[in-house]
Amino acid sequence: MNSKAIKFKVNLKKRSYPISIGSDLSQNLSALLMNLPSKNAFVVSDRALKNLRSQFIKGLKKAKWNVAEIPVGAGEGLKDFKTTHEIYGKLLKLGAHRDSVLFALGGGSVGDAAGFVASTYLRGITWVGVPTTLLAQVDSSVGGKTAINHSQGKNLIGTFYQPAAVICDVTYLSSLSRREIISGLGEALKYGLIYDPQFFKFIKLNWNRLLAKETKGLEQVVQKSLQWKSKVVSQDEFDNKGRREFLNFGHTFGHALEKITDYKKFQHGEAIIWGMRYALALSQVKGVISTQEYEEIDSFLAGISLPPLPKNISAQKISKLMSKDKKIRGGRLHFVLLKKMGRPISASNVTAKNIRDAFLNLKARS
Ligand SMILES: NC(=O)c1ccc[n+]([C@@H]2O[C@H](COP(=O)([O-])OP(=O)(O)OC[C@H]3O[C@@H](n4cnc5c(N)ncnc54)[C@H](O)[C@@H]3O)[C@@H](O)[C@H]2O)c1
Ligand SMILES: [Zn+2]
Repeated sequence: MNSKAIKFKVNLKKRSYPISIGSDLSQNLSALLMNLPSKNAFVVSDRALKNLRSQFIKGLKKAKWNVAEIPVGAGEGLKDFKTTHEIYGKLLKLGAHRDSVLFALGGGSVGDAAGFVASTYLRGITWVGVPTTLLAQVDSSVGGKTAINHSQGKNLIGTFYQPAAVICDVTYLSSLSRREIISGLGEALKYGLIYDPQFFKFIKLNWNRLLAKETKGLEQVVQKSLQWKSKVVSQDEFDNKGRREFLNFGHTFGHALEKITDYKKFQHGEAIIWGMRYALALSQVKGVISTQEYEEIDSFLAGISLPPLPKNISAQKISKLMSKDKKIRGGRLHFVLLKKMGRPISASNVTAKNIRDAFLNLKARS
């Protein structure tokens, strides 16, 4: 089976690129990989994904590409200097030139690290994202943010470097765990809450179907999410015009939660669901959202199975961490709050008491 791919473009003038979404896309890669500088592929891939990798490489060969493989470990640990140094070394040894094409096949961590390598190897070579987790398909594969970690913090070393194409094959998602699906759906719910109430309702109504990894439903979720993401990226490629700000909904608290648990307890999207519940609680504390709207949204989010909030985190500890967030402008912490579904606002008048009250309210509901 090779269903037709849904295709659309991220509009960035000279740096525009196509996104293809569908099932069994490896069968017909030549239709999805056009206008690239050569047919020399260097596939940086998650070592654990043996079947996926061989399926994709078979597809590339069928489309008459020369293929060299660079398997790497997976997860956050690969986003470091040691692994990137190894990837540069392999590219050099295997003879990757300026017109070679690097493929990043894996979750968001492979995409972030391989994208970073592509942006710096020989001052930048073409790269293609082939995301294999739902989180990477709905979010991280589009937008051109690449990054590795430094011992002093996550994603501190990176570039803006757009891929030349993104291929989202939802059949790749069939081997993901339930937690990884929930994590991806967390980011998708975010687009619904900030931009698109209908999309939020769609996910809510189809929740069990999506957890069962029903292909058509996942395709719809990836398509809608990336349409929103690419629209915003087109308006603010370098994240300096404020248009990407609302995409941070739930992320101030979510990042603090990930940090406090040493990135071990929560998948990114799981922490973001907690973060959105926090942002909603804060919206209520500030009197921004109606009680009815708050209850309607939060009762759904509260029903999602997530690792619980750690017992030992205090309001004080989490506030301190949040105040170190990247989203501080002019000495003030900015929070994205929700007036109602589809109506986010940026608030800079949040007091320490508001921050604590929202946390205590959330804790009482968890
Ligand atoms: N660049 C961006 O805009 C952006 C946005 C959001 C997140 N991120 C980054 O993305 C990373 C998280 O990405 P992630 O959630 O995809 O996690 P991940 O890349 O760490 O992968 C999670 C796990 O899933 C496994 N996996 C991947 N594909 C699979 C498949 N098809 N079947 C079974 N297992 C599979 C991996 O082996 C790994 O163990 C973080 O480093 C985060 O900083 C980047
Ligand atoms: Zn996120």
